[in-house]
Amino acid sequence: MASKALSPAPIASLLSHTTRTSSLRCLRQPALRPPSSLPQRRQISAYGYEQAKALTFPSYGEPPSVLSLHTHSISPPHGDLLTLRFLASPINPADINQIQGVYLSKPTWTTSLGTKDEIAVAGNEGVAEVIALGEGAKKDGWKRGDWCLMKGPGFGTWRTHASASTDQIVKLEEGVREGITAIQAGTVSINPCTAYRMLKDFVELKEGEWFVQNGANSGVGRAAIQLGKAWGLKSINIIRARENDKEKEDALKQSLYDVGADVVITDAELQSQGIKDMSKEWTNGGREKIRLALNCVNGKAATAMAKLLSSGGAHFVTYGAMSKQPLTIPASMLIFKDIHFDGFWVSKWAERNPEEKKTTVEDVLNMIRKGQFKDVPVDEIKWEWETKGDELIAKVKDTLEGYREGKGVFVFGKT
Ligand SMILES: NC(=O)c1ccc[n+]([C@@H]2O[C@H](COP(=O)([O-])OP(=O)(O)OC[C@H]3O[C@@H](n4cnc5c(N)ncnc54)[C@H](OP(=O)(O)O)[C@@H]3O)[C@@H](O)[C@H]2O)c1
Repeated sequence: MASKALSPAPIASLLSHTTRTSSLRCLRQPALRPPSSLPQRRQISAYGYEQAKALTFPSYGEPPSVLSLHTHSISPPHGDLLTLRFLASPINPADINQIQGVYLSKPTWTTSLGTKDEIAVAGNEGVAEVIALGEGAKKDGWKRGDWCLMKGPGFGTWRTHASASTDQIVKLEEGVREGITAIQAGTVSINPCTAYRMLKDFVELKEGEWFVQNGANSGVGRAAIQLGKAWGLKSINIIRARENDKEKEDALKQSLYDVGADVVITDAELQSQGIKDMSKEWTNGGREKIRLALNCVNGKAATAMAKLLSSGGAHFVTYGAMSKQPLTIPASMLIFKDIHFDGFWVSKWAERNPEEKKTTVEDVLNMIRKGQFKDVPVDEIKWEWETKGDELIAKVKDTLEGYREGKGVFVFGKT
């Protein structure tokens, strides 16, 4: 277990980080040992206070300049409160946008983590285990060791521990979490759910019909390929070309074929002269319809993707804006081809459909358990109690670069 001295926190909770550290040293004096010889066992405070660390920001800005690692204490839970220990939390594009202040869903600004001015904890998705709970939470059926997901965005999941009330979290029942890893549980509620709903809720695709998508190697894209495959759909997948690295591009394409893609092309190939003929070839001369497009990129490549859609009631669903370019739609697509342009936001959908969200998550976890749904490539970022803030923030910075080989996920060790 990690070395983590817990505070007799009636005092600690009132102190800022710096003063708290020195005061705690006084309070821990009976041990009178240099920090390096502190026991490597996690100590439980007699007062039940939990020491926690969180990546927080005091104002919007670029993540490397506004994020810092903040240490604080969590009071013993009472009533319907629970103390959570995080197990895995991904770094999603929306988390970055939220820190930058350009995401619709805002973080929770608070002084409850012992700061004078408000700060917010970054991160929106993750899985945590219950390590302590109040009587009300027990009466609601919660117990120590339960795993939970966040009910909605804005909770702040890039943290070792948190205090939560029962209405902020959703339990993963024993049967649902059986055979599921923390990374799988911690990344199931946003990307796979988004792919799932977009494939189901806009057009009723019949077996053998096609959908086309860009950002196909993203978490959402990989989920869509696999769900589509399981439901008998065929997919045309667009990735960004790996300029001057054909080997990497081929390997990336192959990784999508490996999870069930039918066609994988680059954005350059999509915008080439021969694309109409190629599309006819894939779809049996156009007899097999392409009635759904999923777009998280925008710009010219998205307009080119829309041109692949069949006439008469196809849907083009936009759910992201990775290129930061606007989406331009020729009027003819609306007038003559009768293509419907829609948007999708999983947070809003989940708020309106809490029960369906639960069953969607359960469905995906079931598929994972049965081996029908493979994990996305992950860049595991180990977060131990001693891990330095700079290391964690450098990893967040890395995710701002494109052409990555895996999704960054904080995986909590001895915290
Ligand atoms: N609306 C919703 O409810 C919802 C839910 C979940 C996700 N999303 C959105 O879905 C998108 C994918 O999220 P994710 O978590 O699945 O992503 P991810 O796994 O982190 O992967 C990022 C994806 O974005 C691509 N990308 C990065 N920079 C790009 C650029 N400048 N131009 C074009 N593509 C670029 C990457 O391609 P390379 O490998 O070529 O860099 C990769 O395919 C994001 O826009 C996210 O905000 C929306």
